[in-house]
Amino acid sequence: MVHRMFFHYSELPLSLRTLFTSALIILGVGYLFAMVHVYNSHAGRDGEPGLTIQDLAIAYSGNKDATKLEAALFGPMSGMLPNDERNSVVRWVRGGADPKEYEDSVKTVLEKRCATCHNGSNPHITPLTDYKEVAGLAELDTGIDLFTLVRVSHIHMFGITFIFFVMGQIFSHAYVRPVWFKSVVIATPFVAILLDVGSWYLTKLNPSFAWVVLVGGGLMGMSFAFQWVVSMYQIWLYKYLPGERSREAALG
Ligand code: HEC
Repeated sequence: MVHRMFFHYSELPLSLRTLFTSALIILGVGYLFAMVHVYNSHAGRDGEPGLTIQDLAIAYSGNKDATKLEAALFGPMSGMLPNDERNSVVRWVRGGADPKEYEDSVKTVLEKRCATCHNGSNPHITPLTDYKEVAGLAELDTGIDLFTLVRVSHIHMFGITFIFFVMGQIFSHAYVRPVWFKSVVIATPFVAILLDVGSWYLTKLNPSFAWVVLVGGGLMGMSFAFQWVVSMYQIWLYKYLPGERSREAALG
């Protein structure tokens, strides 16, 4: 039976339907931008094109296999220096990137083998001419640090609650049956944000939780898309018959 507090869009004034439509359009475009942003900031971290579970694992928990400097020395830069020199640089990285040892031996190797390109003259090539720059690449990549994660968590939780509060409020005027299903759709993004944010911390501890990040994001997206499409459709195209109230009342 239709609750006496339920009003379908078609029973609401044009001004409210205009407000709902405007908000939906901006939220929809905003959501697309958010998707592009997520993709740009994580895709390709594992060296494969596209956004994979591995990319998310690396973003939150880091790449335990190698520092950037080692990855380059064994990967694309491996042809730039002989093996014994490479091994001495790698030993220095593994030994904790000691500044004195850098001055004594590593510096001369890098100057001889790398500085022709990595000298700061090309903005796309990281300079490797002083200790700080080199040591930065010799740190273990531990993923997003905890403070950044805490900061992003509270921004996300506040922001997303507002978005889905507005969205759910608008969607609550849609005629969707069964009612429990409608409630599940409204509640899903709030569960998903807990899952999503929680899984960032879990993934930081253990990269195998990365799929939870993906599930959380996916649930949120599905709920958003469903509420958006149904609301937009029913605001302008769905004929909610005035008889619907009395018909359901009669059936109930
Ligand atoms: C012939 C020019 C050249 C030489 C010599 C060279 N590199 Fe590179 N290096 C590049 C280019 C080009 C890139 C790619 C820049 C990019 O697209 O990020 C790169 C990338 C790197 C990166 C990745 C930087 C990052 O921020 O991820 C590291 C680390 C690196 N090189 C280390 C070295 C080391 C160590 C040596 C010396 C043993 C060396 N390179 C010698 C041209 C060179």
